[in-house]
Amino acid sequence: MQKQPVLGIDIGGSGIKGALVDLEAGDFATERVRIPTPAESTPANVAAVVAEIVSGFAGQMGDGPIGVTIPAVVTHGITRSAANIHKSWIDAPAERIFEERLGRDVVLVNDADAAGVAEVKFGAAKGNDGLVLMTTLGTGIGSALIYRGVLIPNTELGHLEIDGHDAETQAAASVKTALDLSYDEYVPRLQRYYEVVEALFWPDLLVVGGGVSKAADKFMPKLKLKTPIVPAHLRNRAGIIGAAWLAVDKQQHPERAS
Ligand code: BGC
Repeated sequence: MQKQPVLGIDIGGSGIKGALVDLEAGDFATERVRIPTPAESTPANVAAVVAEIVSGFAGQMGDGPIGVTIPAVVTHGITRSAANIHKSWIDAPAERIFEERLGRDVVLVNDADAAGVAEVKFGAAKGNDGLVLMTTLGTGIGSALIYRGVLIPNTELGHLEIDGHDAETQAAASVKTALDLSYDEYVPRLQRYYEVVEALFWPDLLVVGGGVSKAADKFMPKLKLKTPIVPAHLRNRAGIIGAAWLAVDKQQHPERAS
């Protein structure tokens, strides 16, 4: 797809991570760099950290766009929500803020969307030409819906209202930690979540990412679903790899809306 490595950056609640990505191999071309997320994680403060990461890779990459993920809805470069991040991201022209700070093109995407694209192109859903639904179980629940290799962005299925609750407040991995639940105690929450999701979307494959996917054998076999469900392969590399892939995809198809 692209010979020169492309920088992907993953903005999370505790760390901002970046690596150059080899998009032929679908993997990192360098070590990953991590800088803690600033305590006051406003767009300007986060952009300063992103600039530090970018300057560390100067000279090793071309002048094309870099891909950046954010745990928010992103439409046309504007961040529209802030479920688990600083509220100043709501309606911020975030892509432009990054571009002005960095002096280069930036493609800003939702974190789960980037992870889902990476899993479809290079990971657990590679080669699946149907409807793939990736969910990331972390502080919140992120989702990525990909049909025949094409991302349908900003699905936000962590915020489905289920049994009167915002779903991620019941089934995110952070809830397991906060309530000190065993996997057996956590499974019914995931069961309820995924049975609603599959009844509404009927995917061909469910991919589960986020830190808990490392322990997939402790909960996945206990879920009773109609849809095959598999753990993510790329783990914490997925966001960075997917961001780089989406940056190049946008550069090659500028006519597409985003
Ligand atoms: C946010 C999503 C994000 C997910 C995972 C949710 O709370 O609304 O945009 O993808 O958390 O970080």
